[in-house]
Amino acid sequence: MRTSRKILILLLLHFTLGKEESRQLPKNLAFATATSSYQIEGAWNEDGKGESIWDDYVHNHSDKIIDGSTGDIACDSYHKTEVDVDLIKNIGFQRYRFSISWSRILPGGFSNAINEEGVKYYNGLIDKLIANGITPIVTLYHWDLPQTLQKLGGWTNSLIADWFENYARVVFDHFGDRVKLWITLNQPRQICFGYSSKYLAPGVESSGLGEYMCARNVLLAHARVFHLYKNSYQSTQGGRIGITIKYPWKEPATSSVTDVEASERDRQFEFGIYAHPIYTKGGDFPHVVKESVAARSKAEGFHKSRLPSFSDDEIKYIRGSADFLGLNYYTTFYTKDRIPSPIGEPSSEKDTNVVNHQDPNWPTGSLHDFKSVPWGFRKVLNYVKKNYGDPEVLITENGFPDVEEINDVGSVSYYNDHLNTLLDAIEVDGVNVTMYTTWSLMDNFEWTAGYTARFGLHHVDFENPDLKRTPKASARYFKELMKTKTLWKNVTL
Ligand SMILES: *[C@@H]1O[C@H](CO)[C@@H](O)[C@H](O)[C@H]1NC(C)=O
Ligand SMILES: *[C@@H]1O[C@H](CO)[C@@H](O)[C@H](O)[C@H]1NC(C)=O
Repeated sequence: MRTSRKILILLLLHFTLGKEESRQLPKNLAFATATSSYQIEGAWNEDGKGESIWDDYVHNHSDKIIDGSTGDIACDSYHKTEVDVDLIKNIGFQRYRFSISWSRILPGGFSNAINEEGVKYYNGLIDKLIANGITPIVTLYHWDLPQTLQKLGGWTNSLIADWFENYARVVFDHFGDRVKLWITLNQPRQICFGYSSKYLAPGVESSGLGEYMCARNVLLAHARVFHLYKNSYQSTQGGRIGITIKYPWKEPATSSVTDVEASERDRQFEFGIYAHPIYTKGGDFPHVVKESVAARSKAEGFHKSRLPSFSDDEIKYIRGSADFLGLNYYTTFYTKDRIPSPIGEPSSEKDTNVVNHQDPNWPTGSLHDFKSVPWGFRKVLNYVKKNYGDPEVLITENGFPDVEEINDVGSVSYYNDHLNTLLDAIEVDGVNVTMYTTWSLMDNFEWTAGYTARFGLHHVDFENPDLKRTPKASARYFKELMKTKTLWKNVTL
């Protein structure tokens, strides 16, 4: 039990632990930290930036944000490039993953009008990172769609593949000389959840319909940008491009056949919808998803399945459209089968037809379902290796929202446990992981949780007009780790 485990002082470790209780970090494992534009930049309407769906959502649906807050100012990173790059450098991370705000570069969403001030901001950030020996990793889209495009249906309009491609071209043209690692989309399931429920922007409540239209369109848009980069940029710019998908592990609650099947079904609805078309030999949406949605759609009186289909050409176009898999892992759930809901209003929850729960004894932070379950991380990595032909995996997010604001020993334990598990997966199971990224560089606007969930390695004082950053125990932990390259079985500060 983690909570009862003896906690040791990092500085004393050198003489309290034997050699067998520490291990060296693999040489080819790069370390990074991450943020996203809307969560940290602020300056929501400065220097020509257009509105995004998150600007609109927080301004018009403040009741959906736990503390009624907005990202209008957030960490004000738009004005703090120097300060923030220094934070990364001080810890000693080799890479920094951030996202570009589409509407800061293209205020109207389309590539006819480029906002030079926005370009200047990202140029400044990229140049400062490189000058400090930090490799930039750019996410093209981390949830902040231009509001102008949402008015035209956003991710439910199939023309979005064109819009996204045109935006990506502008980004590659301006930054591709220096950026060599690209992530098209962050967490497509959560992008599409915005067309399922009111709890993420744009808050279109169309479960079982809009979210599946979105699923088809995000995959085609992703593939379009992958092929654009391959065909027009990779030979001259020499970078690599992939997608980031979130993988909560779903463990069968019992060994019964129905629960084992239910947990696999849940995985396919949760991440398979997005990963299966790209990373499996056969491509396309997972069979169990197609089957479940088709059966309920028919019973509900729909003429066709609510899950749109791909043509054979589209399946081929999407299949293999990634140089690596970006994987976000936070937590694990137990999954049980359940009695199907009566036929009525469509919903993806009814299509999936499972119940999830967590062990209340697992360590918990300020978001109740982000519990620390390192063994689930290892299961995810093995699942990916087995089902997707052993791809190269970049861990693009992993982290914990500790309740302790500065002395975040819960996060230190979380990180240390997950890193030990990761090394087991690499060394024992042979998974091909080449990067590990902490979420996040600093406390920031955590979507509908507002400022109530602090994932940062640095504390941000949101009451202080300077938004002062203070390194937490977890920042000191990583600084030590980057210096010594030595991972201990047990630590704290
Ligand atoms: C929503 O908020 C935005 C500001 O982000 C504002 O421009 C827009 O008019 C608002 N819409 C409504 C319907 O209030
Ligand atoms: C990991 O994947 C990369 C890219 O495909 C490859 O070059 C490398 O050899 C792989 N490493 C292992 C240990 O499989």
